[in-house]
Amino acid sequence: MKAINGLRYLWHLYKQRKASPDSFINWLRFANPGMLNEGNIYCIEYATENLPSDNPIIEIGSFCGLSTNAISHYLRKANRANRLITCDKWHFEGTENQGSFLGSSDITHEQYRRFVKETYIRNVGFFSGKLPHTMECFSNDFFDLWDNCAAATDVMGRNIRLGGPISFAYIDGNHTYQFARDDFLNVDRHLETGGFILFDDSADYYTRFGVNRLVREIKKMDRYELIIKNPNYLFRKTNYF
Ligand SMILES: C[S@@+](CC[C@H](N)C(=O)[O-])C[C@H]1O[C@@H](n2cnc3c(N)ncnc32)[C@H](O)[C@@H]1O
Repeated sequence: MKAINGLRYLWHLYKQRKASPDSFINWLRFANPGMLNEGNIYCIEYATENLPSDNPIIEIGSFCGLSTNAISHYLRKANRANRLITCDKWHFEGTENQGSFLGSSDITHEQYRRFVKETYIRNVGFFSGKLPHTMECFSNDFFDLWDNCAAATDVMGRNIRLGGPISFAYIDGNHTYQFARDDFLNVDRHLETGGFILFDDSADYYTRFGVNRLVREIKKMDRYELIIKNPNYLFRKTNYF
């Protein structure tokens, strides 16, 4: 299996489509840590250029803001005014004991969590001209707020009314099957026809994550068309439902 996945990885690397050359993205990636697959940048560029409306974009899992800043950048480039609303609680998997230390250091997971959140705020403050709204919560709680069109306060202390149709969702939170499926079902309720959904770490060679199992299920649904596997899956919602 390992060998097959290795070959799949090389094949996808060979076939991967790249976003148009963009020096902003190069500079951003030098200074803003994160986990953004090169192929996702192409998908983000594609989705922002083909948004069906001015409805909001949502991102689940922002970490230090790399993908948030990339989405903001491509929105600006495509001259789109869609609001970007993101969510992260900065509670990383396997760090339930927040008082425990990072390896042999004297830094606790709680301190690391605060540092990453502050890094996020600083990074989006610097690189995202039109500031995104970010909710400090897990995605299930975020969607409860969204379902109820709740008035909420973001990590910068600004008020926002959530809810309504979504034009594009970038899903990069908890990668287990159950969580990714919940995120999908929650987005699906609000994603408008022609809207996009991009799943990080959904590539065919990422068999250790549950996301690949989920995207293979979505691929069989009539109401979603696969736009590209690059190597992660980008879908568009059709009007066939
Ligand atoms: C892979 S990182 C995101 C990387 C980021 N998109 C980037 O471009 O660098 C995953 C993030 O998801 C967050 N996360 C994990 N489970 C989550 C959940 N259930 N709801 C929201 N965020 C979650 C983590 O705190 C972490 O910051």
